[in-house]
Amino acid sequence: MNFDLTEEHIAVRDAARDFAQNVLKPGVIERDNEQRFPAEEIKQLGELGFMGMMVDPKYGGGGMDTLSYVLAMEEISKIDASVSVCMSVNNSLVCWGLEKFGSEEQKMKYLVPLASGQKIGAFCLSEPEAGSDATSQRTTAVDMGDHYLLNGTKNWITNGSSASTYLVIAQTNPELGHRGINAFIVERGMEGFVVGAKEDKLGIRGSDTHTLLFNDVKVPKENRIGEDGFGFKFAMKTLSGGRIGIASQALGIAAGALDFALAYSKERKAFGKEIYKHQAIAFKLADMATEIEAARLLVWRSALDKDAGRNYDQSGAMAKLYASKVAMEQTVEAVQIHGGYGFVKEYHVERLMRDAKITQIYEGTSEIQKIVISRGLTS
Ligand code: CAA
Repeated sequence: MNFDLTEEHIAVRDAARDFAQNVLKPGVIERDNEQRFPAEEIKQLGELGFMGMMVDPKYGGGGMDTLSYVLAMEEISKIDASVSVCMSVNNSLVCWGLEKFGSEEQKMKYLVPLASGQKIGAFCLSEPEAGSDATSQRTTAVDMGDHYLLNGTKNWITNGSSASTYLVIAQTNPELGHRGINAFIVERGMEGFVVGAKEDKLGIRGSDTHTLLFNDVKVPKENRIGEDGFGFKFAMKTLSGGRIGIASQALGIAAGALDFALAYSKERKAFGKEIYKHQAIAFKLADMATEIEAARLLVWRSALDKDAGRNYDQSGAMAKLYASKVAMEQTVEAVQIHGGYGFVKEYHVERLMRDAKITQIYEGTSEIQKIVISRGLTS
């Protein structure tokens, strides 16, 4: 087993690290306070090729592998998880879903601007009454011959107001259950499509999470993705890869918290010496580093499964389950190491602690990951 990164992987990681430390860090506290979407930062990320990293260059992407993607996600997430969630949804869910299952026309029209960073995408599955229970879609898409008529409400949509292209899951044939569900490409500006209220969130406050409303939106027939009834499988397959992205986000949040805790413990003195020289702190740092490394190995393994063409439903779910737990627990430790300073915004770790929580919720709660893992064990 070879854990050495190639020169290309190191170059991608270092480019993401430079961007996070030099471009994202200076304004991250302000963006979090003001709940300001990082529009300019995302534009620059697109110019660096980070918004469609794994997409074939013929569709405007970077042609990189999943390992490159998780390395970049970790570095960006060490500083700003509001940026990395936008990056993750665009790369893992929207671009991947379109490249893998879209028609050639759909790829040329929608994937190229998304992968090259000119536009941002959103993935619209969750509803007021369909979160974990994703088959219970209430949004309907009635077949009207040359178009579908879309009606319903979507909740918790990342990139809700900044996106131009939305992949929307809806029920076409309720009598067929999940086999009656379809996925559609909906454009910003289509008549009847309204971006609703923005959520005021605990964490990832720079990302724009919205409710979306669809009132008799006419979606052209050619905007359906795949065969009639493919929508639920489309969502599940896409989310399997999305979970690797969120696992790497959780890993980055934890690793960022360790970086801040380590730096602080080398500067801060108590009882006559730097606090890292006290065993109480040294043991905390050792535990943090060990847990984070274990999470990193699971994230890398799931990325390598995907790159090798192996099934990654289970390894991606394991990576997300474990890395999100590590993110939550170790950001709390980082705050503790900082003492009172950890409780104020200037020292970054309270933001990382708030951001960590969502990684145990979106793209499937921890309980959903356990369903996926246990089914993999028993099937
Ligand atoms: N790949 C392909 N097909 C899959 C699949 C996968 N990974 N998982 C399930 N399926 C198929 C099944 O084979 C089955 O098809 P058949 O009947 O033809 O065999 C069909 O889908 C239904 O599967 P299940 O019977 O297993 O469905 P279920 O209702 O029991 O549960 C679940 C499935 C895993 C719990 C699923 O509902 C799930 O993942 N829920 C969580 C949803 C989620 O992650 N939402 C996140 C929202 S997106 C988001 O957060 C993005 C963001 O903004 C950051």
